[in-house]
Amino acid sequence: MSWLDEALRDMTQRMDVAIRAALSPEPRAGELMRPERLLAAMQHGTLNGGKRLRPLLMSECAAAFGRADDGVLVAAAALECLHSYSLVHDDLPAMDDDDLRRGQPTVHKAFDEATAILAGDSLLTLAFDLIAEPSVHPDAAVRLRLSQDLARAAGVGGMAGGQMLDLQAEHRTLGEEEIRTLQAMKTGALLRYACEAGARLGNASPEDVARLRRYGEVIGLAFQLADDLLDLEATPEVMGKATGKDAEAGKATLVSLYGADRTRQILAGLVEEATTLVAGLGPAGERLAGIAAFVAFRSH
Ligand code: IPE
Ligand code: IPE
Ligand code: MG
Ligand code: MG
Ligand code: MG
Repeated sequence: MSWLDEALRDMTQRMDVAIRAALSPEPRAGELMRPERLLAAMQHGTLNGGKRLRPLLMSECAAAFGRADDGVLVAAAALECLHSYSLVHDDLPAMDDDDLRRGQPTVHKAFDEATAILAGDSLLTLAFDLIAEPSVHPDAAVRLRLSQDLARAAGVGGMAGGQMLDLQAEHRTLGEEEIRTLQAMKTGALLRYACEAGARLGNASPEDVARLRRYGEVIGLAFQLADDLLDLEATPEVMGKATGKDAEAGKATLVSLYGADRTRQILAGLVEEATTLVAGLGPAGERLAGIAAFVAFRSH
């Protein structure tokens, strides 16, 4: 097993512990009670075998600046809850109408649509609850910044806005720049956040925060190019989700524009840029370079 497989497996365990704790049945201060069915749906949407790529990016970016305590895991769990919410809603019949996610029935299949909507809502709000935890960073001003950045990465000008553009793209042909913008929002924003927030957690200098922000953007682009390639070339068994859906929906992707070969060349260029950006950040920087290659050339 490569170090990266091991790191992803280790992060999966850590996220399971952190998310399970956040989704325990006892109400928190200010809450009345936690409906069992809603909690179960939230657990189904989060504890079901995601790759935990965003948490790993965040923790490696924090480690690059010497931070490696459990507070980082709380921030990473916040982001993973928000990411999982985006998938629960993305799979709904009104959006992509998918039955399979991470090799299991989607939340609306395992429960029902209304419960899946509420589970998504509750995971989104839980993310902001978690990012405000004092263990995330001793300085409340930093936590506030992390919270506002998360809102911007997830909202109308970020992931959700990108999802809107993505739905509209089913009905018209997009140019290259439009597709890039769509993807930078839909997928790129949360991956960029993982890296930038990780640097902030480690009290990186403004220059280093900007460097890791750019690294995150490059990872975001590579990630979506690889996802689109896999949608075209991989099987549902390998992916744990339906494939061939982009072409079926007539969805414009960079792969549909460039073709598979040119896409692979672009991916190689992105890995090179990412590697240059994290050079000089010690062992964590080397691991971040390895993650870039994994993201670009993954087979699942
Ligand atoms: C899938 O993200 C959705 C996209 C943004 C394309 P991941 O491939 O990171 O999904 P999980 O978390 O590993 O299931
Ligand atoms: C969804 O993109 C990305 C978000 C949930 C923001 P896709 O619709 O391509 O993701 P998959 O292929 O279902 O994982
Ligand atoms: Mg979608
Ligand atoms: Mg989808
Ligand atoms: Mg996809």
